[in-house]
Amino acid sequence: MTFENVVKKFGDLTVLNDLNFQVERGQRVTLIGPSGSGKTTILRLVMTLEELTGGYIHVDGVPLTHLERGGKRVARRHKDVAQLTRRIGMVFQQFNLFPNMTVIENIIEAPVHVLGKSKEEARARGKELLEQVGLGDKADQHPSRLSGGQQQRVAIARALAMDPEILLLDEVTSALDPELVGDVLNVLRDLAETTDITMLIVTHEMQFAQDVSDRVLMFDSGHIIEDAQPDVMFSNPTHERTKEFLRAVL
Ligand SMILES: Nc1ncnc2c1ncn2[C@@H]1O[C@H](COP(=O)(O)OP(=O)(O)OP(=O)(O)O)[C@@H](O)[C@H]1O
Ligand SMILES: [Mg+2]
Repeated sequence: MTFENVVKKFGDLTVLNDLNFQVERGQRVTLIGPSGSGKTTILRLVMTLEELTGGYIHVDGVPLTHLERGGKRVARRHKDVAQLTRRIGMVFQQFNLFPNMTVIENIIEAPVHVLGKSKEEARARGKELLEQVGLGDKADQHPSRLSGGQQQRVAIARALAMDPEILLLDEVTSALDPELVGDVLNVLRDLAETTDITMLIVTHEMQFAQDVSDRVLMFDSGHIIEDAQPDVMFSNPTHERTKEFLRAVL
């Protein structure tokens, strides 16, 4: 995945200004940085929940939403964008499960309606995924009957049901009671160990970030100010701004 001269503005506010970085296939990259530095915006751009103001994002060399043609920046057709985004999954801080559907209905919704899987096939895979996240007995419950940690594990299973090549994780444990955080992080650690899914992670769980990340990017005001391996970033950062930030959060 490549960000090339990415610009994102909300009205007069420029959040990302000429952002460039690359994430190799299969890499786990954690984004850290102060509130408002643009971390969520970056994930939402990849998920195409926000529109780029300028620049390009490529996934495996394929332009995500815009391409350059004859020196001009051209938007891709919706159909082509959708083709690519079905390979990208996102898990949100607030779970975002469909409250009117059971757990298994949440999980099979996109595989059935987007990928065209049969309900039987989607259910079978959904059940497997629920087992994997430790919720094999919750398929027919409604989300409101589950704890936050359980809901978040359903959200992870739902994302995995689309067999994503890229998984975007935006502070997925921030809304949880502290005692529920561990189960969710263990599911993600397991996923990092047993799959080659590319992961772009925003988290304040620095130990988790250190354990699963190949690289950590420190953002400030929409720029990458430091790009390092986790052991270096967390124990011996170069930049004063990074030191200050880590002192505040650790
Ligand atoms: N839909 C929007 N409309 C207007 N401004 C927005 C919108 N979404 C984000 N912003 C602004 O863009 C900036 C970056 O926001 P973003 O959510 O990406 O930050 P963040 O790094 O994820 O912060 P946090 O750590 O608090 O989650 C902020 O100033 C925010 O107020
Ligand atoms: Mg955010």
